[in-house]
Amino acid sequence: MNDIIKNIKERRSIRKFKEEQIKDEELEVIIEAGMYAPSAHNEQPWHFTIIQNKDIISEINKESKMMMKNHSDKWIAKLGNNEKFDIHYNAPTVIVVSEKKDCYSKFVNASAATQNMLLAAESIGVGSCWVGFSKFCFVQEDKIKKLNIPEGYEPHYTVALGYKALDKKQSAPKRNEDVVTYIR
Ligand SMILES: Cc1cc2nc3c(=O)[nH]c(=O)nc-3n(C[C@H](O)[C@H](O)[C@H](O)COP(=O)(O)O)c2cc1C
Repeated sequence: MNDIIKNIKERRSIRKFKEEQIKDEELEVIIEAGMYAPSAHNEQPWHFTIIQNKDIISEINKESKMMMKNHSDKWIAKLGNNEKFDIHYNAPTVIVVSEKKDCYSKFVNASAATQNMLLAAESIGVGSCWVGFSKFCFVQEDKIKKLNIPEGYEPHYTVALGYKALDKKQSAPKRNEDVVTYIR
């Protein structure tokens, strides 16, 4: 198995982080990996907002959970009501992944960039988690003014980043096997 395949298979969603901030050099590697993702028409329609300010990260958590509390899905509502739950798992760095509102293949470009960043993080020993719960904050446009998202872009996801605070390697959730059709 080559290093890339190993990295793809070993990356896990990390939900427990150390308080220590990641290094700027590591952050640069991760962001650059996002910028090297494929994009429809080579539009590169993404924008990354790096947040390392605890108050802003905490505000996104608070605003997301306020919305989650009243969600029709009981699991989401329960997490919204859980005082201890932090949608970014207290990660010291959060990247907001935004995309041009009028781009080709909406969401897909931002998703490709997000996955590249997760894999880059894993390859240099930084833990990461793709977080969709932040969407509950982002749908409230007045709540995201402080993020200075460029005009014409909208935030889709966040990525939690930090050093892993795990005693042992996390095993992968079982993968569905019946998902391939060969036509030869
Ligand atoms: C679009 C998307 C949104 C996600 N949102 C969340 C989230 O809000 N919180 C979370 O803990 N994990 C989130 N995840 C991570 C998935 O739960 C995780 O990828 C899945 O359980 C498989 O585990 P693995 O990443 O370790 O392979 C998200 C993943 C994707 C692709």
